[in-house]
Amino acid sequence: MRVAQITDTHLKGDPDDLAVIEWLGGITLHDPTESLELILTDIVALDTPVDLIIGTGDLADRGHPLAYRRLNAMLNATGIPAMVVPGNHDLPDVLDANLPGGSVELGTFCEVAGWSFVFARSGNTEWGELGPAQLSTLATRLATRRHDNIFLWLHHPPVNLMGPLGANVSFLGDDVTALHRRHPIAGIAAGHVHGPHDVHHGDIPVHATPSTFMGGGGPGYRIFDFDEHGFTTTVRSWPERSTMTDDKRDTLVTNMRKRHAEHAGDPIERNLEERAVAEVRGWYEQAEAARGRPAEYRSR
Ligand SMILES: [Fe+2]
Ligand SMILES: [Fe+2]
Repeated sequence: MRVAQITDTHLKGDPDDLAVIEWLGGITLHDPTESLELILTDIVALDTPVDLIIGTGDLADRGHPLAYRRLNAMLNATGIPAMVVPGNHDLPDVLDANLPGGSVELGTFCEVAGWSFVFARSGNTEWGELGPAQLSTLATRLATRRHDNIFLWLHHPPVNLMGPLGANVSFLGDDVTALHRRHPIAGIAAGHVHGPHDVHHGDIPVHATPSTFMGGGGPGYRIFDFDEHGFTTTVRSWPERSTMTDDKRDTLVTNMRKRHAEHAGDPIERNLEERAVAEVRGWYEQAEAARGRPAEYRSR
């Protein structure tokens, strides 16, 4: 069973609206739609076919209905079934109304190849949360599972991968630990941090995946191969399309500060100005990590 995880596609309502690129002020970024097309083309062309595409949030940059409809069309064109969950940039109601259809479903729970896949919605904050009601729903779904291999798909990783900015934040860690105590989780895939990370939350392997259009290590996606014994995962990325060059760093910080100030009252943009600096620093750290990361992770 092969899954391709795509995340943080950040599609705009208008495909020609390159404001996200303009506010970065001279940084050569790739258009999110074009970059996603490159990645979906790569997924379709893999020698070992992909059975399922899973999208783990920040699918639309600002929750625009047209962004979801375009994503639906692009996913349907692959001919591969897809399941999706929202991230903090998504507006869940708009996503629910515009993204499913054809081969695209909202992720809740499914059982495939000896695995129970459970999907969580981790909210619109920067840190993510599951909350008592959803934890109860997830536990109820898992209580009726046929397979004991549980894999959790969601937007926010349960550990701090954001450096000093996240040092005093618990993220989803406690929520995930509570679920894990009742129903042991064998692996977690997340997005949000836009870069490749293979870490652990307690004894649970956590795999964070590059954004399909921007991040320190270049755009990318992740492949998971599941069988009854475990899973392997590798990242496919395009480091040559990373534009996090040192000479652009100051411009990037300045423009991100401007953007965060402009959107201070926006419910999607619940950020402190300091986030700009921390985020850019994180991207550079990811670029470093991407150069030295192991090629493949094996759970067994
Ligand atoms: Fe994102
Ligand atoms: Fe996010």
